[in-house]
Amino acid sequence: MTWWRNAIVYQIYPRSFADSNGDGVGDLRGIVEHIDHLTELGVDVVWLSPVYPSPHDDNGYDISNYQDIDPVFGTLDDFDTLVETLHRNGIRLVMDLVVNHTSDEHPWFAESRASRDSPQRDWYWWRPPRPGMTPGTPGAEPTNWVSYFGGPAWEFDEATGEYYLHLFTRKQPDLNWENPEVRAAVHDVMRWWLARGVDGFRMDVINMISKDPSLPDGQPGTAGAAQGLLADGRPHFICGPRLHEFLREMHDSVFARHPAQLLTVGETPGISHEEGRLLTDPARRELDMVFQFEHVTLDCGQTKWDRRQLDLRELKASFARWQNGLGDGWNSLYWDNHDQPRAVSRFGDDDPEYRERSAKLLAAVLHLHRGTPYIYQGEELGMTNVPFSHIDDFRDIESLNHYRHAVASGADPDDVLDALRSRSRDNARTPVQWTNGRHTGFTTGTPWLPVNPNHTEINAADQRKDPDSVFHFHRRLIALRHTESVVVDGDYTLLLPQDEQVWAFTRRLDSTELLVLANLSRDHVAPALDPTPWAHADTLLTNYPDAGQPPSPFRLRPWEVVVYRRVVVAGS
Ligand code: GLC
Repeated sequence: MTWWRNAIVYQIYPRSFADSNGDGVGDLRGIVEHIDHLTELGVDVVWLSPVYPSPHDDNGYDISNYQDIDPVFGTLDDFDTLVETLHRNGIRLVMDLVVNHTSDEHPWFAESRASRDSPQRDWYWWRPPRPGMTPGTPGAEPTNWVSYFGGPAWEFDEATGEYYLHLFTRKQPDLNWENPEVRAAVHDVMRWWLARGVDGFRMDVINMISKDPSLPDGQPGTAGAAQGLLADGRPHFICGPRLHEFLREMHDSVFARHPAQLLTVGETPGISHEEGRLLTDPARRELDMVFQFEHVTLDCGQTKWDRRQLDLRELKASFARWQNGLGDGWNSLYWDNHDQPRAVSRFGDDDPEYRERSAKLLAAVLHLHRGTPYIYQGEELGMTNVPFSHIDDFRDIESLNHYRHAVASGADPDDVLDALRSRSRDNARTPVQWTNGRHTGFTTGTPWLPVNPNHTEINAADQRKDPDSVFHFHRRLIALRHTESVVVDGDYTLLLPQDEQVWAFTRRLDSTELLVLANLSRDHVAPALDPTPWAHADTLLTNYPDAGQPPSPFRLRPWEVVVYRRVVVAGS
């Protein structure tokens, strides 16, 4: 069996994990020093966000050298020590591969921008200004595409008189995958890390590597109020014409030649489950699994900053669609990562009265779906969003750019700040809360982003001592996946799809069946399910201490989750 089907992945955002040298930024040695946290939790894989040399315009997702470690994080020797320590503890390591774009400080780009005749000119997307327009003025860009972080997706280069494409910041020029030399160079980088002992890759925005080479304009009016005449270009670069071909080529020239089975997970915004099936069907030899975004856009309007009340029925339907819609493909399951606000504040209830229960509930619901669960650092503690009070509290370029564009286009700064408070990526990026002490034990210096003041209540040291903590609840869920094959392979059935408060589903493998019942509200509820078949079930897991045998009829208290297991006898 493929090893990652019953694995749990833990994501480390190194800048915020643990700082060993007091410079206020987390580093590789800091991870090594906290290995016991990971082994106690029981995770199988670490996904490490980028640690390569970078100008850090986008916190390392702008890479200037693919084959080294940024001094802020340590050295290649530290990296080797990390791999060795993880492996010794039975944990694999997955690297973040950011190859849709490089940094503008990468030598490939420096060479490409040097002149129009550079042999590497075609490694990036260079285009002349729009005919008849004055180069460098608004509207002269080759297309009207908005960049992900606001403003046009094209930057004018005075020296050579052309624009280059950057779907993210202007310091993240997009590589031109049409050029076979680019693809070969990326494959070389991957082989180099594999030879160093890594066990797979998480591939940043990998479904954007193939663009429609004719670069058509986007539909006017689709970029959001703050972006004026710019438009959403996604139809022309999400899952472009050669995506599957490029991934198959990568599979055949890198993964298939590696002696051990790897884990490959693509970050793929904006895809449907049909596309997810194509990307992850093992017979097609592309990727093992993908991060899809459907469930994290259900509470958004035209952009992520437009907040919309989540409808639980839509969330359940989305999960169910992906559970049953992938055929032989495989899901990755996540609530949180370094780009999303904290799940407990978003899908749960971070009021102190419900925080722990709702964090446990979200974990149980996620981990008991079919697929490989991902835990983002701090999620195992129930870390929450941050009470940012001023725009100067933010560090993330996406948040800062959005504030600037929105306020310039007339939005009320307080409203913009309010949206940032619930949606900014910095919510996920405050340091991991290790202790209730100074800077939560993250650093002896000044943290690059201040710690969440609630570390006095939410921290690893306290939770590891408390068997009822969110941390130990995660530990039990992880152990369950390792021991109960129904969690890995069981069929999935959504129950009560129209219930607006209860998330109920079963998993079934041979004669073992699990029932997961979760109440995503502060009310006492009575799910309309027949309890008879469950009368003699065991209670496998719950977030209330006194939950015993299944009640008849079923009842759930505020934010209660309970998991029952029964042996199915013929006809029941
Ligand atoms: C991905 C990363 C995000 C980054 C972007 C550009 O979405 O997860 O952090 O800003 O790609 O690399």
